[in-house]
Amino acid sequence: MAQKTLLKGRVLSFDGSPFEGEPTDAARLDEAVLIQDGRVSALGTADDLTRAHPDADVRNYGARLIMAGFIDPHVHYPQTAMIASWGKRLIDWLNTYTFPEEMKFGDIDYATEIANRYLDLTTAHGTTTMCSFCTIHPESVDAFFTAAQNRGQRVVAGKTCMDRNAPDGLRDTAQTAYDQSEALLEKWHGVDRLSYAITPRFSPTSTPEQLEAMGALWAEHPHCLMQTHLSEQTDEIEWVRSLFPDARDYLDTYEKFGLLGTNGLYGHVIHLEDRERDRLREVDAALVHCPTSNTFIGSGLFDMNGLIHDGHRVGLATDTGGGSSFSMLRTMAAAYEIGQLRGRPLHPAQLLWLGTVGSARTLRMDDRIGNIAPGMEADLIVLDLASTPAIAQREAHADDIWEAVFPTIMMGDDRAISEVWIGGRPAGF
Ligand code: GUN
Ligand code: ZN
Repeated sequence: MAQKTLLKGRVLSFDGSPFEGEPTDAARLDEAVLIQDGRVSALGTADDLTRAHPDADVRNYGARLIMAGFIDPHVHYPQTAMIASWGKRLIDWLNTYTFPEEMKFGDIDYATEIANRYLDLTTAHGTTTMCSFCTIHPESVDAFFTAAQNRGQRVVAGKTCMDRNAPDGLRDTAQTAYDQSEALLEKWHGVDRLSYAITPRFSPTSTPEQLEAMGALWAEHPHCLMQTHLSEQTDEIEWVRSLFPDARDYLDTYEKFGLLGTNGLYGHVIHLEDRERDRLREVDAALVHCPTSNTFIGSGLFDMNGLIHDGHRVGLATDTGGGSSFSMLRTMAAAYEIGQLRGRPLHPAQLLWLGTVGSARTLRMDDRIGNIAPGMEADLIVLDLASTPAIAQREAHADDIWEAVFPTIMMGDDRAISEVWIGGRPAGF
């Protein structure tokens, strides 16, 4: 007889998009969720589910909020140890802090230590799936997938390819990038809950030959995701223009090499031109908003309202360690603040949806993760909506669930995460 677990609490799920109509209409609240064989098998009232499954193990979380684990579709796990490095903008930040740290990941022991540290930290913050850049070293990919596999986590990752404008020791070539990426893809893609993403870092660190090789690899494996950066900072865009004088715009440096597609994830996408927005929408590419990174590195204000309104698929990500936090709650708070600066405050239902369903959609995994519904994988978190005195005193006089959860979005951190379930089992952090 399969193990059944019944979690009781306030169970939040979505049966529509909170960006269509009233945001709250898309949300559903239940009293209990039943987990069986690593998946959600039922949602309903506590009485009904208890009566129907008297043999289930019961966990009663009282007034706590049970929801899907957070999904972070743009991170750099190798930047864990240099998060919150002071005072630089993108290109200087990469050269001063990022590249020296990434240089260390040819050492499998160091890569393994940081991969486990990163997964410990993110689990404690309620993130159950992420899509990570690794470094140019195949060891960095093996270390990350092995660590995630041992924990039963669904993750996406890929070898970051760079063959110019990076220091000695941190460059591959068009050929080695192709060969190593293909070998890693064949080794890991589809194994357990792991998926491979073809990963050219961004146009300035790849020659046209390398971009072409990555495009060829993607054409041979179109079911794989492809992740990169696009239009993050104005200085970067000027640099791309000088490196690719024939390109129509930044996106064109990917498009002309076969790196624009429906399974593509484009991080940041702040300073887009009209042609770029139109093409990204035509191919239904995924856009990833990284708000703490955009304020921390001083990149600019993402146009959430305009892009969603135009029909783009948008997710929410930390961009660790350009982003200044491992927490998707803190990331939602930053998205809210950027929305305010653009005159469009996001509703709590929209923020929670973006960090779960929205992000799962960018990974094309929303049929498996990012929500609570029968058949979906049981990656769940339990949120304490009164995790600190400051949050508790505000939550105490909330009129509804949205007023109750918003202080946790704005002020919460790992203390708000009471429990994490990965694949139907407690993650034990
Ligand atoms: N653009 C290219 N590489 C990076 C990176 O590591 N972080 C951020 N934020 N932007 C990038
Ligand atoms: Zn990034």
